[in-house]
Amino acid sequence: MFPLLPKKFKTMGIDAPIMETIENYRNHHNPSLARLLKLSGFNTIEWEGEGCIVRDIQGEEYIDCLGGYGVFALGHRHPIVIEAVKEQLDRLPLSTKVFFNKPLGDLCKKLAEITPGDLKYAFIANSGTEAVEGALKLARLSTGKTQIIHAQNAFHGKTFGSLSASGREQYKTPFEPLLPDFLSVPFGDIAAIQKTITAHTAAVILEPIQGEGGICLPPDGYLQKIREICTREKILLILDEVQTGLGRTGKWFACQHFNIIPDILVLAKALGGGVMPIGAFIGTEKVWDAFKTNPLIHTSTFGGNPLACRAALAALEVMQEENIAEKARQKGEFFMSELKNVAKNYPDIIQEVRGLGLMIGIELTSPHYGGALIPEMAKQGILVAYTLNQPKVIRMEPPLIIKETEISTVLQALSKSLEKVKQFFSKKEPIHASN
Ligand SMILES: Cc1ncc(COP(=O)(O)O)c(C=O)c1O
Repeated sequence: MFPLLPKKFKTMGIDAPIMETIENYRNHHNPSLARLLKLSGFNTIEWEGEGCIVRDIQGEEYIDCLGGYGVFALGHRHPIVIEAVKEQLDRLPLSTKVFFNKPLGDLCKKLAEITPGDLKYAFIANSGTEAVEGALKLARLSTGKTQIIHAQNAFHGKTFGSLSASGREQYKTPFEPLLPDFLSVPFGDIAAIQKTITAHTAAVILEPIQGEGGICLPPDGYLQKIREICTREKILLILDEVQTGLGRTGKWFACQHFNIIPDILVLAKALGGGVMPIGAFIGTEKVWDAFKTNPLIHTSTFGGNPLACRAALAALEVMQEENIAEKARQKGEFFMSELKNVAKNYPDIIQEVRGLGLMIGIELTSPHYGGALIPEMAKQGILVAYTLNQPKVIRMEPPLIIKETEISTVLQALSKSLEKVKQFFSKKEPIHASN
């Protein structure tokens, strides 16, 4: 049953490695995370994954409806991605950095092909936040200006530049002072951006749909207008599609729903095919000119390593050949309409179901319900989590390869869990809607 389980655990009993790992988190990694995972009902060790299924060390199966916050677009261990990575692993996993690196060149060309408009040059990083950092640096370099406008409630990562452009104060204040010249405006407010722009504005950075902010869609016409303003004022538009990119919303890129093309596009998560960590920012030739004066002005030891690039190339090929984005659109429509039907039965608990493609948020009337619903879903064999900047919203971001039967299982589990949550809270004081 557990082909990979070390012999010592078989003789010690399954509980032993779980206790050991929790103790290691408590004593040597992150004690409060250990407590949070336990409270959320994830009190075991993840062991293996395949497609949409994750198995824990005790052999319990879960449908991964969280999908690594968007990482597992192709599910766990997609065979074509695994094969590409294994072939590279047996030959040259990391780059010498002095010779030309073929997978890196191939990936940059592929990204130019699949991204819209005149996006042409790419830098390959190791994560989303690193890619955002690179995009922000490029914006300053290319324009010679310093000011960056970003949206309230945004999430771009937790390194200093990305954090400076992000939203939730509880993650920012403890690290102040953050980078200067970052100004925030409400997401969706065109006038606020217009008022904030000065002669020093280098770029506006936005997620086309805010992910960690609570799966927030932009108001009609908003992104188009921002594109117009940026072009007119000679300000760069950076779109962070780390979460929305690569089919998640039913198109290759969310910006294609709005018919706009950014000057710099940021990707990560699904780009690694669910197998390798990777990030990328892709820019137009005009913007990239700024990097041309010094080939080493922005570098990374591990960025663009052959293993990650091979994973990305294989993932993009699968996405293209299997028309993954269109399938995500269709499945997303079905999933969302069914979720809306479930929500109708629980108006006291669910305020709204919203999203695009398979990027779906369930907004609860109070975050307290999420605290009960998430562990209940885990008990029913479904992995979900709330969004980082908005604990009232539970997100559903399953692999884009999820089957309709798996979606039905999730819906049944959700109804069952909501029923339990309703019963649980009916015995307590009434909950008042709060933030
Ligand atoms: C839109 C967006 N940008 C950037 C990031 C940061 O990516 P990473 O965690 O790989 O640094 C995230 C992560 O959730 C994200 O959702």
